[in-house]
Amino acid sequence: MVDDLNNNKDDNLIVKVPKKSPLVVRMVVLAFAMVCGVYICSICLKQISTSTKVKFTNLEFLEPSFPKLKHEIPKLHYPKPETFSRAECACNPVRDFAILSMQRSGSGWFETLLNSHINVSSYGEIFSNKDRRSNITSIVKTLDTIYNLDWFNSASKNECSAAVGLKWMLNQGLMANHKEIVDYFNQNGVSAIFLFRRNLLRRMISVLANSYDRDAKLLNGTHKSHTHSPHEAEILAKYKPTINATLLIPTLKKEEDTTRKALEYFNNTRHIIVYYEDLVQNRTKLMDVLRFLRLPQRELKSRQVKIHKGSLAEQVANWDDVHNFLKGTPYENFIHSDYAMQ
Ligand SMILES: *[C@@H]1O[C@H](CO)[C@@H](O)[C@H](O)[C@H]1NC(C)=O
Ligand SMILES: *[C@@H]1O[C@H](CO)[C@@H](O)[C@H](O)[C@H]1NC(C)=O
Ligand SMILES: *[C@@H]1O[C@H](CO)[C@@H](O)[C@H](O)[C@H]1NC(C)=O
Ligand SMILES: *[C@@H]1O[C@H](CO)[C@@H](O)[C@H](O)[C@H]1NC(C)=O
Ligand SMILES: *[C@@H]1O[C@H](CO)[C@@H](O)[C@H](O)[C@H]1NC(C)=O
Ligand SMILES: *[C@@H]1O[C@H](CO)[C@@H](O)[C@H](O)[C@H]1NC(C)=O
Repeated sequence: MVDDLNNNKDDNLIVKVPKKSPLVVRMVVLAFAMVCGVYICSICLKQISTSTKVKFTNLEFLEPSFPKLKHEIPKLHYPKPETFSRAECACNPVRDFAILSMQRSGSGWFETLLNSHINVSSYGEIFSNKDRRSNITSIVKTLDTIYNLDWFNSASKNECSAAVGLKWMLNQGLMANHKEIVDYFNQNGVSAIFLFRRNLLRRMISVLANSYDRDAKLLNGTHKSHTHSPHEAEILAKYKPTINATLLIPTLKKEEDTTRKALEYFNNTRHIIVYYEDLVQNRTKLMDVLRFLRLPQRELKSRQVKIHKGSLAEQVANWDDVHNFLKGTPYENFIHSDYAMQ
């Protein structure tokens, strides 16, 4: 990294020197470049050593509630992208992370919140593309590119990213290749942010409604999974799915098992578990995530508008059936737990 910086500095300065300048001028420029190089180098080294020190002393104070693990101190990562120069930010370490979640759990909203931070690049659902997840070689290659900051899309904030990641659904090769992925996370110091919904019944309604809209295209013939407009949210929420009562409990159980398994598989990675409902009710919880990624605290914003609000009874066509089916089961709390919306 230090070498690269010196080289760049040399190139820039020499380019500016007219071709036929006398030797003396060249020597002065060269000397100047060398002094610059040494200075940058010393600053770099100083920053690296102080940030390491801070990590150690603040650890207990920063994260009292996170699991104490040998991976608790994430590896400091200074990517050297092949496609651009990190310029003055080359000395800032970058935290690698992955948001691990399930469809319709609020991860899109959560990711837009994170991306509103000036130092976060979260590239979205990179593994929705089947080729990228077809085998572990492909997965690792994709992750390497992302964590080296060589991935480009609208979320890229190249030079001064301090945290870089993606949104990864459990069914996008993550569970199928969990052993290798956990190894990769631990070797490369990737932190996992689990985002789950507490109320899986609400998630189910969102899944059914979204899947209905894929064909129905309620918004003037366009299918939208997320919206920025309250008016559109209202239209999308008008559709009330009928839930197949026979499949209800097996489906909830399967989702619960998947969640439990994911937590088990990734238990020895550095991770934090965040619940959508908690974030909706208390935005301050987001600051826990920023602390976990060791990012400067900032207000985070998203333009996304929630689609399904208010009481569950009004969101399902056959609510009485659903209610009766869940009563007296371990999932009964799903029918009662409504939460306040802002
Ligand atoms: C992995 O998947 C990629 C993309 O689908 C493919 O090109 C490659 O041949 C596969 N490699 C192995 C070892 O199967
Ligand atoms: C965050 O980004 C700003 C602006 O690009 C930059 O000045 C700052 O150094 C970055 N912070 C970190 C911690 O990388
Ligand atoms: C659908 O199109 C009409 C006419 O262009 C417009 O007035 C209306 O707002 C649109 N509705 C939505 C949900 O986009
Ligand atoms: C509910 O799902 C079961 C199993 O797939 C199916 O046999 C049944 O016809 C479905 N019921 C309704 C009302 O769609
Ligand atoms: C994760 O590991 C901790 C400590 O080893 C253990 O107490 C906890 O039950 C594990 N959690 C899961 C979900 O496996
Ligand atoms: C909101 O979350 C923060 C951070 O987790 C916590 O300290 C605070 O007590 C919570 N506030 C309420 C009202 O629950």
